[in-house]
Amino acid sequence: MTSAMRKLTLIGANGMLAKAIKKLTPANYHIQFYDLPDFDITDRAQVLALQDSAPDIILNCAAYTQVDGCESHRELAMRVNGEGPGLLAEVAKDIDAVLVHVSTDFVFAGDKKEPYREDDPTGPLSVYGQSKLLGEQRILQSGLEKYFIVRTSWLYGQGGNNFVETMIRLARERTELKVVDDQRGTPTWTDDLAEAIFKLLAVVDAPHPSPLTPPSPYGIYHFSNEGECSWYQFAAEIIDQARNFESLQVENILPIPTEGYPLPAQRPKYSVMSKEKYKAATGMQVRDWRESLRNYFLERGK
Ligand SMILES: NC(=O)c1ccc[n+]([C@@H]2O[C@H](COP(=O)([O-])OP(=O)(O)OC[C@H]3O[C@@H](n4cnc5c(N)ncnc54)[C@H](OP(=O)(O)O)[C@@H]3O)[C@@H](O)[C@H]2O)c1
Repeated sequence: MTSAMRKLTLIGANGMLAKAIKKLTPANYHIQFYDLPDFDITDRAQVLALQDSAPDIILNCAAYTQVDGCESHRELAMRVNGEGPGLLAEVAKDIDAVLVHVSTDFVFAGDKKEPYREDDPTGPLSVYGQSKLLGEQRILQSGLEKYFIVRTSWLYGQGGNNFVETMIRLARERTELKVVDDQRGTPTWTDDLAEAIFKLLAVVDAPHPSPLTPPSPYGIYHFSNEGECSWYQFAAEIIDQARNFESLQVENILPIPTEGYPLPAQRPKYSVMSKEKYKAATGMQVRDWRESLRNYFLERGK
């Protein structure tokens, strides 16, 4: 890997994943930050003006991430999660930059019984999933060749509203928690995803085996932590690990079916993703979700 300086434009720079990106950016990257209210990914003129700073990489962490909110704000979801990434692809193509875009396991219908691969058919069940799929399609349709679309799942990390923090808060306040046990997926720590994104970018800089036939590292990748669980099992593990750091009110955690906790947006029953493509491209292993949760607690405690 070369240590040439790289200019990185970080979109959605105040969000949860972006915080991990900032923390873990290698020394040879110079970052510029963009987020609401000064920068709006849906504003064509603002997005096209990104070319003025001539970034090597545009990394998009911006999204309308309220899954249930998307059901009642379809147009906004489609603009932010769908059309916005298309504009970024347009500018990346114009200036020959690499676009890294983060997508979601919710592009899948969840009717598989084994981990989803990158080329499996999509079938989003929610407006959020449809809007994120539109974002992927806009990038593919743009003709941009230098892109990474990284689908991830069940993200948690420092500085964000997420399931881990919600469970800890509820476990402080209540003696009983009921958590859905019939949706299975894989939690992902933002730090691990941020590291994975930089590993994929490093593949671009790595010398190719043959200059005549350079293999293209670009495309769609899946990245989550390793293993799988239901939301109920995730909650039980969170409470278990949190007890190493504080005492909690909660006494019982009860598994319930999805129907027992109705929400506006339908979620996939199963959205575990295969990381084989990522591992082959980077030569990296992926940490088990329980281990990453332990690391998150250690970081959080600092
Ligand atoms: N969280 C998860 O469980 C999960 C799971 C799978 C995939 N993902 C994907 O992972 C990525 C990062 O998620 P995250 O949880 O880090 O998201 P996040 O914390 O909600 O951060 C998103 C950021 O984007 C900003 N933003 C929203 N609309 C914008 C616009 N029109 N123009 C510019 N910036 C805008 C937000 O600003 P405001 O806060 O001011 O709106 C926020 O700072 C997203 O692509 C998401 O779809 C997340």
